[in-house]
Amino acid sequence: MRSTRRALAAVVGAAALLVASACGTGEDDDSTASKVEVFTWWAEGGEKAGLDALVSRFTTTCPGQEFVGGAVAGGAGVNAKQVLNARLQQNDPPDTFQVHAGAELLDHIDSGQIKDLTSEFSSWGLTGTLPEGLIETITVNGALWSVPVGVHRANVVWTNDQVLARSGILTAPKTLDAFIADLGRLRRDGIESPLALGRDWTQLMLLESVLISDLGPKRFTGLFTGATKWESRAVRAAIDDYARILDFSNPDRDSLDWPDAERLLIDGKAGYQLMGDWLAADLEANNFSGYDSFTFPGNGRAFQWLADSFALPTRAVNPAGGSCWLQTVASPEGQQAFNVQKGSIPARTDAPTTGFSDYQLAAAGDWKSGVAVPSCAHGSACSQPWQNAANAALGAFSTSGDATALQSALAAAAKQFVRQG
Ligand code: GAL
Repeated sequence: MRSTRRALAAVVGAAALLVASACGTGEDDDSTASKVEVFTWWAEGGEKAGLDALVSRFTTTCPGQEFVGGAVAGGAGVNAKQVLNARLQQNDPPDTFQVHAGAELLDHIDSGQIKDLTSEFSSWGLTGTLPEGLIETITVNGALWSVPVGVHRANVVWTNDQVLARSGILTAPKTLDAFIADLGRLRRDGIESPLALGRDWTQLMLLESVLISDLGPKRFTGLFTGATKWESRAVRAAIDDYARILDFSNPDRDSLDWPDAERLLIDGKAGYQLMGDWLAADLEANNFSGYDSFTFPGNGRAFQWLADSFALPTRAVNPAGGSCWLQTVASPEGQQAFNVQKGSIPARTDAPTTGFSDYQLAAAGDWKSGVAVPSCAHGSACSQPWQNAANAALGAFSTSGDATALQSALAAAAKQFVRQG
């Protein structure tokens, strides 16, 4: 499942030159290059490798424009979004910024902070090459607001095969109960915290996976449209299941980001970690190959998706530079170069998949044939204030273990922030 991710040097071809001519500013001398500030949270490991691949495409295709980074580290953009929102409010935007496609854009759109990119979507060849379902979900107020570069899957469990083998666990559990039984087996064999877990938003991911198992994809998705009630008994049962699983995680979870939890897996202190499939690229970046993965038990064919994308602030200082970055992101070659490194799959269906790992090729197949469900922790299902409220509720539960309080807090957030239903 882990074919090596090869560098794709060969993609600097005719299409690159085409993008270059479209992006060029007429400045050929790098000393006079205009600076383009690209704001992300991709600071290290597999995330930085993906960003670096985009930067190298950008340098080729946008002569006269100079990439300026300055990522604000922190998984899922928890820190970056705070810095970005403060800057946008102070009219000090970067030239382009990373954001999750979908509901996470709502507040930026409402505040007039980002440009409508609908016409660019067709001139950059995105109309007709992105899956229809994706276009539908990321259309807000009849318009398109950010360029998706890659699609990640959130509901994946990653393993340390050696740890599992020592306890005789050789197959993936198919149900929540079977998963809990395997967690118990590891603990009995001396792995005190068999499930590696991190802070609030990673806990929200775990709860979302349990909710998908217990409610099914349709009712799960309805939690974010108003069609499914958070107050129901079924949600309470899912919270109880979540609590049973949480009990097998490391007690210091609230102070760990996802790469810290990943370290527990690599070091054999845990046997499992639920995390999006950016973990594969990071495990590789850490030279760890003793892993495997499976869809969260009970999720069936549900593909919980999220899309990394870039938006163009209305008040950007260098809109031409920002736009050239977006055009690089939109190109099939840019998407291929980025995703090979990042572990996601291209948003464009016509982007080449040369060099992709077996996992990525399988994920691309599942994305086509599976049942798409959105993610709140990663912005395809819910707005930023909703995400913040859900993260806070999970963080509080991690300490208190009060299931009634968790359910009321989640129900209150839905009531306050739901947009349709
Ligand atoms: C997600 C993002 C991924 C990855 C992950 C961990 O929200 O979409 O690209 O960076 O966070 O930081």
